[in-house]
Amino acid sequence: MSALRRPLTDVVRGWLDLNGPLLGPAFYLFESVRSYIEERKEAFDARFGTDTAAPVLGRDQRPGVYFYVATTASLIYEVIEALALPPDVFAFVDMGSGKGRALLVASEFAFAKIVGIELSPQLHRIAQNNVKRYSPQTQQCTDFDLRCMNVVDYAYGPEPLVLFLFDPFDRETLESVVSNLEASLRENPRDAYIAYVYPQFEDVLQASPILRKVQEGGPRWRPWSRYVVYATSPGSDGAAKTAAQRPGSG
Ligand SMILES: C[S@@+](CC[C@H](N)C(=O)[O-])C[C@H]1O[C@@H](n2cnc3c(N)ncnc32)[C@H](O)[C@@H]1O
Repeated sequence: MSALRRPLTDVVRGWLDLNGPLLGPAFYLFESVRSYIEERKEAFDARFGTDTAAPVLGRDQRPGVYFYVATTASLIYEVIEALALPPDVFAFVDMGSGKGRALLVASEFAFAKIVGIELSPQLHRIAQNNVKRYSPQTQQCTDFDLRCMNVVDYAYGPEPLVLFLFDPFDRETLESVVSNLEASLRENPRDAYIAYVYPQFEDVLQASPILRKVQEGGPRWRPWSRYVVYATSPGSDGAAKTAAQRPGSG
């Protein structure tokens, strides 16, 4: 009986999977329309000559399906400003960086370096081109490090960290990311923040003994605009620190 039940559960899970054959195309259509509307409002690519807005649903490589959709630029600004940290000592690491929109926006802040980790070679190449094209006068960091690899294999550098995640992967991958981060921080204690947009698996962060929630924002009725921020060290809620600021933001 249980042998029969398991395949049925798998089938139902497949139907409910947003990257699956049933909901995948519907989700892709929804995200395409949403991205088109957002891009008309923000004109990010039109202003900077980049290629970040169009979603990509890829099925051509391990570990299977990947789905790229860019974070709205204004939301990335909001999240980084909400961190309220002095960016110049932090590495900004986008886990699942896609075409690099978050990397480009992060470069408007004086981070020590900006790292993008992306599984898809196609998206990685587009991100590399975008980084070359993006050079507004307001840019404060040009130290980019783009890697085409699985996030679970990424070894963190020695700097304090801001990890940025926009609904990039499944629960299992997020668990590996958090456990690698914990190991790295045990070995080399330093400040670390995880900014998680569209936090579907927030319980994984909640379960970490070294992380605590310090911020949340975005309306619940637009789950793709919701974000949470978790931090490690006791003094890292940022209240008394110099806020990250982009030029001209007041
Ligand atoms: C929703 S997109 C986010 C893109 C970008 N962070 C942004 O905010 O504009 C998620 C990205 O994560 C990538 N991804 C998924 N699983 C990954 C993994 N295990 N390692 C590296 N990248 C991964 C996907 O290919 C996709 O480009």
